Amino acid sequence: MLGVSRRWRREGQAIGLVPTMGALHAGHLSLVERSCRENHRVVVSIFVNPIQFGPGEDFERYPRDAERDAEVLAKAGVDFIYRPTVAVMYPTGSSTRIHVAGVSEPLEGRARPGHFDGVATVVAKLFTAVEPDRAYFGQKDAQQVTVVKRMAQDLGFPVEIRVSATVREPDGLALSSRNAYLAPEERKAAVCLSSALRLASGAYARGERSPERLRRTLWERLEVEPLAQVEYAELVDPETFSAHGSLAVLAVRIGRTRLIDNHDLAMDFPG
Ligand code: PAF
Repeated sequence: MLGVSRRWRREGQAIGLVPTMGALHAGHLSLVERSCRENHRVVVSIFVNPIQFGPGEDFERYPRDAERDAEVLAKAGVDFIYRPTVAVMYPTGSSTRIHVAGVSEPLEGRARPGHFDGVATVVAKLFTAVEPDRAYFGQKDAQQVTVVKRMAQDLGFPVEIRVSATVREPDGLALSSRNAYLAPEERKAAVCLSSALRLASGAYARGERSPERLRRTLWERLEVEPLAQVEYAELVDPETFSAHGSLAVLAVRIGRTRLIDNHDLAMDFPG
C-alpha cells in the first residue's frame, strides 16, 4: 500500500483515506464521495479490527460482505481498497496499544473497556500504512472522532481529520452496519434514539438550557420504549466529553443490539 501512496505523493496527488470495517452503507458512501471530491486519490480501508471488540461483543457476527463492498466502491470511483489481514495488522507477538487518556475514558470508554485503545491503535496503523493527507470519519461516532483527532495530533501524524454529518433513514434512525441485526419490531423501536435527540433539540431551540431538564427529556422518550434499555443518555462537552455541554450522546440496547447516536443541541435536528 505504502509504495502506491508514496508514488501518488511524488506525483503531487493528494490522498484521502476512509477507514471502515466494511458492510458499507450510505453513511460510508457519503464519506467516500466527499473524499473523492476533495482528493486526487482515495483509499478505503476495510478491516474488522478484532482489538476494538470486547469479549462477548459482536466481532464474530459483525456483517461482512466483501464482494458487495468492492462493487459499491468501484462504482464510487475509489482508487484502492486496502484490506489488510489480521496477521498483517497484528503479527504474532505484537503488543503495542495506544491509549488516549482523558477523552477515551467516559461513556463509550467506560461501557466498552479497551475499545478506544483498539480504535486508536488501528487508525494509527492505517495512517502509517497509507500516509493520507486527509482522513474521513462520521459524526455518528462522535467520541471516536475526538479520540482520533487527539491521537493524530499527539503522535504528529500530518493528516487532516474531516468529519461528515450523520446520515439518517427517513424516520431519523442513524445509519449503522449494526442496524442489520434489528428484527422488524426492534427496527421500529430503534427510532426512539433519534426521536429523543429531536425532542431535546426542540426544547433547546425553545430556550431550555437546564442540563438536568434536557437530560430528562432524553430519558423520558427512551424509557417509554419497552424494547429499549438505556446505557447512557447524557449531555457533554463536544471537545472533551466531560459533563455539561450541548452534545447529547446516547447508547441504547434494542434487544441484543447496542446502538449509539448523538446530536449537538445547539444545532437544528435534521429533517
Ligand atoms: O468506525 C469504524 O468503522 C471503526 O471504528 C474504524 C474507524 C474503521 C476503526 O476500526
